Amino acid sequence: MKPNYKLLTGLSLTTLFLSLFFGVFAALSFFAPNFFSGLLPFQQVRPFHVSAALFWIITAAATGIVIYKSELFDDVKSNSFFMNSFAAIWITAVILALFSYANNEFGGREYWEFPPFINIFILTAWIFLMIEFFNQVFRSKKEKPVYVWMWGTGIVFFLFTFIEQNLWHIQWFRDSFLREMTVQWKSNGSMVGAWNQMIYGTALFLMVRISGDESIAKSWKAYFSYFLGLTNLIFNWGHHIYNVPTIWWVRDVSYLISMTEWILVISIIQGFKKKLEERRKFRHLVPYRFLIASEFWVFLNLLLALLMSIPGINRYTHGTHVTVAHAMGTTIGINSMILLASISYFLNFTITGKKKMPSLFGFSYWSCQFALFIFWIALITAGITKGIQITANPDALFAEVMLKVYPWLKLFMYAGIVVAITLCIIAVILFRRLFNTETIIEKEEQVITPEAG
Ligand code: HEM
Repeated sequence: MKPNYKLLTGLSLTTLFLSLFFGVFAALSFFAPNFFSGLLPFQQVRPFHVSAALFWIITAAATGIVIYKSELFDDVKSNSFFMNSFAAIWITAVILALFSYANNEFGGREYWEFPPFINIFILTAWIFLMIEFFNQVFRSKKEKPVYVWMWGTGIVFFLFTFIEQNLWHIQWFRDSFLREMTVQWKSNGSMVGAWNQMIYGTALFLMVRISGDESIAKSWKAYFSYFLGLTNLIFNWGHHIYNVPTIWWVRDVSYLISMTEWILVISIIQGFKKKLEERRKFRHLVPYRFLIASEFWVFLNLLLALLMSIPGINRYTHGTHVTVAHAMGTTIGINSMILLASISYFLNFTITGKKKMPSLFGFSYWSCQFALFIFWIALITAGITKGIQITANPDALFAEVMLKVYPWLKLFMYAGIVVAITLCIIAVILFRRLFNTETIIEKEEQVITPEAG
């Protein structure tokens, strides 16, 4: 495995560790604010947690894509200058961002709260990634299945939404608070669509590899899903500006569009499951397990999103922990599960020759899913309890309202600790494989034919 792939994978797993550590720290500061906020205030811990989570998602998605595309389009040589420049500048940007948080230096906007000069690094690194990706893809004579389109779209739209996110540097946007906020919320919403394209593309690629059935990525359903995903990317940010005075139909249209995308994702995964033979399932058991977990979380989050879109329910849930449950349910349950599947796949974490998963891994995997479920339910219940309390007693003191909410937040914290520990164990297992060069999948071994197994 090339050193820069190793470095990027190492960075992905490190940011996952950091995000988990600061997530637990942030939850603990709800309960012992004097102690924990004395160590590190919540307003410093939250950006640490959220930015590390975003860096984990984006770095892991980009790393998988560059590895897979180099292998898919091996008739064209990958440009090492562009690849090395991307890796070096991206890694520098992430380290600088995390160091500025540690130094209590802020200045950016939501989710990207580090000093804005670091954005120049992120932007430059991304441009190198784009050149590296498209240089190989466009020059290759090989066929481009739908997942390559999804990767390309995600990469381009990330650049677009990232620039949009930084429009606040122009005075005209800052002149009106409403204008600046609308653009911020809108761009954050579209950025989720951009990384979803990269991640769902990766899920599709993995399904093809595991099942050995390339038609999954060439069916009308796959292309329909791609175009629907693209429509989502362009339009589904409507609910992010729900609270800003805008035209009513923007929200309704965006909800309708995003719901259809979820349904298609489920149907594609189900189609893939049907095609699997038992033998192949075992060969790639670890990536397969993570993909199945993501399917489960797609279902649950779809249900939550549908309920949240009902005005009568939204009245109680808006701006409460239900929104946090939605954000973490999707970033942990769907995005992180697919990315763990991807890392397990390119690190060749299979259990060929054995019938059962390694026990520590199996235990961590199942405990993580169970704890994540409790974590998610506790957040939703905390949010609904708060919403009901505030709506029923508008004059109630905040402390009185929170008294009813605290037991659920406590459950969220305990479950969160289990999620963090189990995900850390999984990440340590993957880290160990990263540095055990003998087990890392090499280019030739990575080509899995339907006959293999
Ligand atoms: C891979 C794992 C994780 C990811 C990707 C993740 C992602 C996120 C995201 C995107 C947010 C922002 C939500 C919003 O703006 O509404 C958030 C907030 C938060 N997360 Fe996580 N998270 C992870 C694990 C955890 C864990 C294990 C805990 C521990 C209990 C935790 C505790 C929190 C807390 C306390 C907040 C702030 C909630 C608030 O502001 O009220 N997270 N997380």
